[in-house]
Amino acid sequence: MYCVREVVENLYWIGGNDHRTHLFENIHPIPYGVSYNSYILLEEETCVFDAVDWSITRDYLDNIEHCLNGRKLDYFICNHLEPDHCSSMFELFVRYPECKVVATEKAFMMMHQFGYKIDGHEQIKVKEGDTLKIGTHTLTFVEAPMVHWPEVMVTLDLNNGVLFSADAFGSFIALDGKLWNDDVDYRRDWLDEARRYFCNIVGKYGPHVQLILGKAAGVLDKIKYICPLHGLIWRSDHMLLIDKYNHWSTYTPEEKGVLIVYASMYGGTENAAQCLASKICEKGVTNVTVCDVSNTHVSYLIAHAFKLSHIVFASVTYNLNIYPVMLNFLEEMKLLNMQNRICAIVENGTWVCKSGDLIEKFLNEELRGMTVLNERLSLASTLHKEKAVELDNLAQAIVDSMAEVSTDVGKPAA
Ligand code: FEO
Repeated sequence: MYCVREVVENLYWIGGNDHRTHLFENIHPIPYGVSYNSYILLEEETCVFDAVDWSITRDYLDNIEHCLNGRKLDYFICNHLEPDHCSSMFELFVRYPECKVVATEKAFMMMHQFGYKIDGHEQIKVKEGDTLKIGTHTLTFVEAPMVHWPEVMVTLDLNNGVLFSADAFGSFIALDGKLWNDDVDYRRDWLDEARRYFCNIVGKYGPHVQLILGKAAGVLDKIKYICPLHGLIWRSDHMLLIDKYNHWSTYTPEEKGVLIVYASMYGGTENAAQCLASKICEKGVTNVTVCDVSNTHVSYLIAHAFKLSHIVFASVTYNLNIYPVMLNFLEEMKLLNMQNRICAIVENGTWVCKSGDLIEKFLNEELRGMTVLNERLSLASTLHKEKAVELDNLAQAIVDSMAEVSTDVGKPAA
């Protein structure tokens, strides 16, 4: 049975939801599923915008067949060629051999790399600023390289103000019948997963996201609907989304607050992390998140790190090195270009304590814009009450340094 939703006159959502895949890109957990969005414009000519993941291809083809109702498909526009959107193209092209394919030059190159058979189709290469008429609609194409692959473009329909934004402004979480941003309590139920999606998928490419936001700013008055390839369609509150993207893509914290990530083998470092959290809260800063690095998927740690202004690394020494899972978190931060946070260190070692110096070295030499507080809490195996002053000093230094933080994009600290 088909399952489609009208977006605006003559434009329909024809995507689907996936609750079976456990790991997005085979790496990021998606406990609430994910949607793969595709759209069809039914005018004097017909046009599909992007395809879907192979996992929902059967439903997708049913949706297209229902919408076309015997008509032919004239155009297929590929904004993004990653297989979570394009693996079903193969079947689409078999069923609609006459459809013209519209994409950037790089996307066509990648279609050949992936082995999608497009040789029998008319291929229309487009670039920044090109336009295409579909019936009475004029589409304009805007290149958006590295948001999130190099071949990406976004498409703006100048007639109805629909922006087909590819991965940009998308989110984890399956739609499950919902369609619009105002169908849900976005801040309560979607923002965390939208942040985790952005930071882990596109986080590395902040400057490229800034570039596309700059282009969007020039035509903001023309954009009425934002239709991403994952998650909800935006018909209101665009500035909320743009504000979040501005924070994330400039590595500006959204909130003053502390992420304490601990690596603990037998509970000593865990106890120290909890004591520190308690002290910080006691001093009035209660926006504190504590995570065990060993049982929190790194994608969640990255999302917390993007959100908050401070990160405390509390780690045991392991084989004279940083605990491997903590090292993985640090490496992931480096990979995603994470920067501009105030950091503090809690170190532990039973025979020898090396983790603190090594973490500080990593933060200073491998990441950009990380400020490491001078105060450090060092323990041998467990936190003894003789360390109460050291603990208090570290908590106070963290609280005091909140004044150095600005959560305004582009504005210096007060
Ligand atoms: Fe949803 Fe970059 O693919």
